[in-house]
Amino acid sequence: MSDEIDLSSLYAMMRPKKVCLCKSVTEAQLVAAIENGCDTMEKLVETTNASTNCGTCSGSVRAIFLREMDKKKSEIPNAQ
Ligand code: FES
Repeated sequence: MSDEIDLSSLYAMMRPKKVCLCKSVTEAQLVAAIENGCDTMEKLVETTNASTNCGTCSGSVRAIFLREMDKKKSEIPNAQ
């Protein structure tokens, strides 16, 4: 048995996962854009360029947007 570490696999695991492969946009970039004021899908798409090519990622981008907006709502006292 080898104790060698496969560095390419390790680097691949450490790389941020891309949500939008066409425009190379990560989940962290989407979350940051939402935190910085993108409070509509249109603003998020315009700011990050995610989901502006093939559209395969649009469901994932929308899911992240809705999740983050729910988090923001729950952080506001007395928000419904
Ligand atoms: S994967 Fe996002 S537009 Fe193609």
